[in-house]
Amino acid sequence: MIEIEKLSYSYEDGRTALAALNLSVSTGEKIALVGPNGAGKTTLLLHLNGILRGEGIVRVGGEIINERNLSKIRAEVGLAFQSPDDQLFSNSVYEDVAYGLIYQGAPAGMIKDRVAAALEMVGMPGCEGRSPYHLSLGEKKRIALATVLVMQPRVLALDEPTAGLDPRGRRGIINLLAGLEQTLIIATHDLGLAKELCPRMVIMDAGRIIYDGSTMVAFQNPALLEKHGLTDYYIDS
Ligand SMILES: Nc1ncnc2c1ncn2[C@@H]1O[C@H](COP(=O)(O)OP(=O)(O)OP(=O)(O)O)[C@@H](O)[C@H]1O
Ligand SMILES: [Mg+2]
Repeated sequence: MIEIEKLSYSYEDGRTALAALNLSVSTGEKIALVGPNGAGKTTLLLHLNGILRGEGIVRVGGEIINERNLSKIRAEVGLAFQSPDDQLFSNSVYEDVAYGLIYQGAPAGMIKDRVAAALEMVGMPGCEGRSPYHLSLGEKKRIALATVLVMQPRVLALDEPTAGLDPRGRRGIINLLAGLEQTLIIATHDLGLAKELCPRMVIMDAGRIIYDGSTMVAFQNPALLEKHGLTDYYIDS
């Protein structure tokens, strides 16, 4: 579904965020992308639908991302940003969630139903008329996720989907994601989510992939977790 070969990216100030990274994701996999602040998780997700374009190759469904296929790629890979303020820009929740479908020219009745279903999925039913600017952080996160779910993309790239959610909301999102058949790539500091939802874990640090394998095996290796900021304790060595 996704193939990344030797992907490198430096921000304008010269900071290297991704260093010759290789990653291959099969259809239907659920992957937790973890690692300390600044590891490069967000930068990597931003490459999956061509928002950032680094050196190297990113293929989605066998196609290398380029200028011409960007809108097709974006229909296949839905990205929920780490900060919901980057995703929400309309005056009403309805307009934000409906935006992509309106852009595609979908029929009005269908848009209304799909928006209602997406809001229901994220635990925010009936809030179409509210202003995204007047929502709490956790509510914004849910609406941002609804804007992605409503498009029914084949791949969901979710950046910190549970950050800022209350425990019940977090549980709702985990249960929702557990029931999806789509390919999921989830950047997260929520290791409980990773353990519960994602059989495969990719640990990044300093722009590189340090570990790519079974989540359970990673959890049996406290030294590995500690080395890459994934524990709240230090191992004396
Ligand atoms: N717009 C930017 N300009 C310059 N450097 C940036 C920019 N965005 C991120 N970086 C740098 O790129 C590196 C990777 O950042 P990135 O946001 O991908 O990390 P992350 O793993 O998502 O971290 P977090 O867990 O805090 O979300 C960091 O060193 C960061 O400081
Ligand atoms: Mg990030």
